[in-house]
Amino acid sequence: MCGIVGYIGNRECQEILLDGLRRLEYRGYDSAGIAVMQGERVQVRKCAGRIAQLEGLARRNPLSGKMGIGHTRWATHGEPTDLNAHPHQDVKGNIALVHNGIIENHGMLRNYLEKQGCRFVSQTDTEVIAHLIHSLYKGDMLQAIREAMGFLEGSYALAVICESEPDSLYCVRLGSPLVVGMGAGEMFLASDIPAILPHTRDMLFLEDKEIAVLRRDGVRVYDAVGAIRHPSPYHISWDAAAAEKGGYAHFMLKEMMEQPQAVQGTLSAYTGKEGLREMLPGKVERLDFIACGTAYHAGRVGAYYLRQLAGIESAAHIASEYRYCRLFPQTDAGVLAISQSGETADTLAALQKARAMGMQTAALTNTVGSTLDRSVKTTLLTYAGPEIAVASTKAYITQVETLLLLAMDQGRKNGALSGERLGDILNQLGRLPEKMEEVLKKQTPIQHYCDGHMNEKLMFFIGRGVDYALAMEAALKLKEVSYLPCEAYAAGELKHGAIALIEQGTPVFAICTQEELLEKTLSNLRETKARGAETVCICPETMEKRARQEADLVWTVPDSDPLLLPLLIMLPMQLLAYHMAVAKGRDVDKPRNLAKSVTVE
Ligand code: F6R
Repeated sequence: MCGIVGYIGNRECQEILLDGLRRLEYRGYDSAGIAVMQGERVQVRKCAGRIAQLEGLARRNPLSGKMGIGHTRWATHGEPTDLNAHPHQDVKGNIALVHNGIIENHGMLRNYLEKQGCRFVSQTDTEVIAHLIHSLYKGDMLQAIREAMGFLEGSYALAVICESEPDSLYCVRLGSPLVVGMGAGEMFLASDIPAILPHTRDMLFLEDKEIAVLRRDGVRVYDAVGAIRHPSPYHISWDAAAAEKGGYAHFMLKEMMEQPQAVQGTLSAYTGKEGLREMLPGKVERLDFIACGTAYHAGRVGAYYLRQLAGIESAAHIASEYRYCRLFPQTDAGVLAISQSGETADTLAALQKARAMGMQTAALTNTVGSTLDRSVKTTLLTYAGPEIAVASTKAYITQVETLLLLAMDQGRKNGALSGERLGDILNQLGRLPEKMEEVLKKQTPIQHYCDGHMNEKLMFFIGRGVDYALAMEAALKLKEVSYLPCEAYAAGELKHGAIALIEQGTPVFAICTQEELLEKTLSNLRETKARGAETVCICPETMEKRARQEADLVWTVPDSDPLLLPLLIMLPMQLLAYHMAVAKGRDVDKPRNLAKSVTVE
């Protein structure tokens, strides 16, 4: 998804902007550009393609100035071309702006502006905003932006510079994140923290409809009607190095290898001398999860934990479905939104809907200060550190871990979980990072498997109960980074249709963490083998002997409490996705068509 960076201060800004854009590359993009206030004129350099191409352009024809904005664009309206790249300008080129989000009524506004004589040069919705602001500008940019907001429908994060106001950088947001970084005698702007983290760790997060005016010596924040606001800054605890590759070939690999520490850090945050801390205030009769993608899969594991440990009803919902489905008010029910980024548009909208229905709401996120974090009273944080690779790994693992702790806390409160059992799970969690290290060390057989299977047409992942939730995540990971088509199925459901896809040699992976369901799943695996499948069973060591009697190949993880096995079993599945992507020569950290944070519906 698109990225924004901005600077105003006493330093030449071209390199600062380019560096910020490079740090946003992980979000996925197909064109990039910068605009700098050079002398009395706003000058733009932009092109389709990678940042390296933009750098080439800017080096051949450099920009000199101490205020500027930059953008990486992920095409929505119009192809990824030089002309469609941001920044966009008004007819006279007085104003340059960059935009994240989508303007839904751009067609109508474009018609209106064309009738006023505006000549459009791009196919984007963003260009409409530049002409609109220009047509409303009467010497006061703050006022022009405020008026423009009245016309714009959709979502936006905007950064605007203007020749007539060379000492101010303007920005505004609605439904798309923006963060202001506060330095000494210089101010920064970005859609994501890592873009400006090398310069400052003190950040202000803008709320919807707030306009910020950045000057060298400070920032002023106004609400939609022009009243001054005084938001408190956040101090970001992680540093720029945490968002760098640190010698690994890919962020995804680095982030997978960081999982033992992430689990340890998250456990330490929620436990102390007195044992497990309270996770959410009070107890609920029912707790549902809303999330998208991998976070939704974590929610499915969380729902299993709540039913097992707290004996309460719980389900996970896909946020984009939940926001449009008919809900029935349940005042004794809680809804927890799960999101690594805390900026996913569907998850935020689903949360608002749950709140409007009178449900108690809370959040689980990896991103302090994110829109999700700020929109609830209670946030559970995961302590995974910045996750840069598009494919979520360490955030997922810590989400699952935190949901386990949450279920334990609810079970303790409603009497479903004894103190002894709780202590036992905590003890085993304490030993988990070591076992995770052990699994992460065993990459060679997985690598070999991928080298030998990179040309498969289709793979299956099957499991029952919580193992089905794990199969869904394993399949998502594999398809998103390697583009290898795969299906996740509830093991018992396969013979109701999808088994027709099994051909000679089709790989089928069975995930088995539950002793009581082992025979059932193995019998489903046998059904696929009888139709030619090449079968693999992933299970703990205790199940290995039995699994070997049925599967062509068995991958094991160390024995552990069954509740913790999801956290171990997912590691070889992530490694499978990673090594398959490497074997197939994919752009592992930035898979095609994907974005790290999905801020549009
Ligand atoms: C897959 C992946 C996505 C995200 C989804 C939600 O690896 O990362 O499926 O899980 O886009 O994102 P967040 O958690 O930021 O709300």
